[in-house]
This record gives sequence, structure tokens and C-alpha cells, in this order.
Amino acid sequence: LDEAVKLLLQLKETYKKVTGQDYKSGSPPSEVTSTSGNGPTATTEDDDVVDPWTVATSNAKGIDYDKLIVRFGSSKIDQELIDRIERVTGQRPHHFLRRGIFFSHRDMHQILDAYENKKSFYLYTGRGPSSESMHVGHLIPFIFTKWLQEVFDVPLVIQLTDDEKYLWKDLKIEECYRFAIENCKDIIACGFDVNKTFIFSDLEYMGESPGFYKNVVKIQKHVTFNQVKGIFGFTDSDCIGKISFPAIQAAPSFSSSFPQIFNGRKDIQSLIPCAIDQDPYFRMTRDVAPRIGHSKPALFHSTFFPALQGAQTKMSASDPNSSIFLTDTAKQIKNKINKHAFSGGKDTIEEHRKFGGNTDVDVSFMYLTFFLEDDEKLEQIRKDYSSGALLTGELKKYLIDILQPLIAAHQERRKQVTDDVIKQFMTPRKLAFDF
Ligand code: TYM
Repeated sequence: LDEAVKLLLQLKETYKKVTGQDYKSGSPPSEVTSTSGNGPTATTEDDDVVDPWTVATSNAKGIDYDKLIVRFGSSKIDQELIDRIERVTGQRPHHFLRRGIFFSHRDMHQILDAYENKKSFYLYTGRGPSSESMHVGHLIPFIFTKWLQEVFDVPLVIQLTDDEKYLWKDLKIEECYRFAIENCKDIIACGFDVNKTFIFSDLEYMGESPGFYKNVVKIQKHVTFNQVKGIFGFTDSDCIGKISFPAIQAAPSFSSSFPQIFNGRKDIQSLIPCAIDQDPYFRMTRDVAPRIGHSKPALFHSTFFPALQGAQTKMSASDPNSSIFLTDTAKQIKNKINKHAFSGGKDTIEEHRKFGGNTDVDVSFMYLTFFLEDDEKLEQIRKDYSSGALLTGELKKYLIDILQPLIAAHQERRKQVTDDVIKQFMTPRKLAFDF
């Protein structure tokens, strides 16, 4: 934790350098999310801010993820690990792995060692339901989690932190719960297997599960105010709910929080896929785990799906202009991309044809790396845009043609999610695994 505290202090200084303002958790100043500008600007050493509330860099290419690995002390997902996943699962690695979209991990080799020795693990991920609708960036960890569930055939728990959103936002507690249920529909629409997945709202499950609450309290006992101040930037004027919340996000990392699934066993390790903004919670969790007799959760970290205005910040539901929502119509998707997606193209067609575009800063191209599965096609688009053969409007059209049907299909699947289906996923129960 000392390392984490040092890191946060460093981040706060960087934040002040980038924004000219003091860092305060949970409330980024508008300058940080503004992404005007034309192409890459110079970056200084450690110019990036990444935590659960803020993702900001002055570099139009986005966060320097290699540096982040060093600062956070995680490990790079290298070719050796990708090859090993392929060997162990017998499946072609997901394009998120092949393309470095999931780029960092903690203890994945340990998970694979155990798995090869027929020792199971479980997946844990989550969502903070801050609004009725989720955006396409939120799909990234869920799409990957679904793939992991399919190839490893393991249980999955999904936490909806409606309590977190009540504590952080100006929302009524009933609204947060309602958002949790609405978001739950989107998560189910990603295609999870009801026999292998438990989705829970904190506001609901806390009262139903002594196992969960006992772990929360154990974690609370082993982390000091000073430590969470260091990790999360809490101040003396933050409410005590925020200060103790990290224990609630940590607790599902331990199998004894789900006695109905794991038959009371506390030795089943978890693997958490998430974007790297959530890592502070799990650095804390990993520090506490051995002290309360649990194994440390393993992690898979993804990069951020960028805001429409550029990779200086992530797509965020709290900034509607930065986002394509899962509720957007085909027309809205088209308009948003055409109007707002930051372009790496040149100012005139003549210049573009002559000098080519810059895919390193072009948001539409970045989005294609997430959603266009065909490697060859993607490479062809990269070459053609860089040479100037492909114009910005044409590149945007490729993206629109992929996102419109993808989101329409999601909306169709979401419509099929009835109250009864939600109830099935959200009822604490044994899953299709014997422990
Ligand atoms: P939330 O709701 O902010 O985000 C949900 C998940 O989506 C990831 N994410 C993104 N991934 C790629 N690009 C983006 N632009 C982007 N924005 C968000 C987040 O990293 C997260 O994985 N406190 C959490 C909820 C939570 C959780 C967890 C998340 C509870 N337990 C365990 C991950 C793992 C939250 O508010 O996430």
C-alpha cells in the first residue's frame, strides 16, 4: 500500500500540472474532459491521470499504457501469455488480446497453472449504474468477460454498485437501484449464460448475504483511512460512505461472499476483467487478501475506449457528447460519428490525398480496432487511410456500417430481457458448477 500511496501523490501532482487545479476525487473539472485540438501535442514525463474518476492525458494518441504498467506495477500481456491462453483453451485468442486492447494483467500465469491442474477459478466484474443507459465503451469488459466465460467455462459474478452511485452522485437511492436494473438488462443482452452467471445489486444483496457482509467488514478492519486517502484521494470532507465503499467493491473478489455458488469455500480464486481505471480498488484488495486468509484476485486490464472528441480522455456516460449510447438510434450514431469523431485526416482533400491521414489519433479508426474483427480488412483500412487513398468520410462510413447493426442487434436482444429473466440472473442461487 505504501507504493500505492506514493503513486497517488505522484498522480495528484501530475493532475495539477495538467489541469492547473487541485485534485478532488469524483469531480473532474471540465477542462480535463475537453478535447479540442488538432493532433498530438507534446507530452511531458508521466503526463497521464488514470483513476476510477478521471482519465486524462494531453497526448492525442491516448494514455501511455506501457508507462502505466510500470507505475501501477502490473504485467504486460505479452505474446507468450497470449500463446499460452491459446494452448490452454484450444481457442483462438480474442481480438482484444491479439490487438493489445487488453494489455495488462496480474497473476494470469497463476490462474493458468491452477486451471491446467484442474483447479477452477471464477470471473468477477461490475458496473456502476450512474445512468439509465450504458455506452459502447462499457461493452468492452463485458464482451471480453463473456468470451472468457465461454472458453474457460467458469462461474461469473457481476456487481452493480448502485450504493456507490448513490454515494457519489446527486441521485435518490431508488433511482440508483432502478438504473442498476436497467443496466442489468444491457449486461444480460451481452449474452451471458444464466446458468453460470449471478448479477447482483449491492443495495439488495448486502441484506441477503451474511457471507458478503462479513467480508466487507473484514476488509474494512484491515484498511486505514490513511491508506484509502492515499489510494483514492478522499479528503476529510468526503462522507464516510465513500471512505468505506472500496471494501464493498473488494468483497466480491473473495469466493466466500457467494456461499450459494461456492458451497462456503473460500479458496476459489477470482479473475477480474475491467478497464485499468478500476485497478486502485484491486491493488487495495490484493494487499488485504492474504491478511484475511484469501487468495489475491488476478486481473485483466483493458485500455480505454476513447471519447468521440479524442483519446485524451475515455468515453464517459457523464459527458453525453463524448459517448455513443446503447440506446442511440441509427441516425444518432451516424450524426455523432460524422460530427464529433475526432479525425486524423488533413484539412483539404488535396492535402489528404498527398500526405495521408494519421490513424494514431483518428477516433473512428481507434473504434474500428475495437469492433472490426477482420484483421486483414482493418490493416487494409489502416494502409489506405495512411496513404490518403481513403478519405475521412469513407473511414467514418466503415465505422457507421459496423456500429449501427451492432447496436441495433444489442437493442433487439435487450428487448427480449423480461422481468422474469432479470429475476433469474439476480436470484442468489447455486450455478451449474459443483464445488
Ligand atoms: P463503471 O460503471 O465506470 O464501468 C464499468 C466497466 O466498464 C469499464 N469502462 C470502460 N472500459 C473501456 N473504455 C471505457 N471508456 C470505459 N469506461 C468504463 C470500467 O473499467 C468497468 O470495468 N465501480 C465500478 C463498478 C464495479 C466494477 C467491479 C468494475 C464494481 N465492481 C469489478 C469492474 C470490476 C464502476 O463504476 O464501473
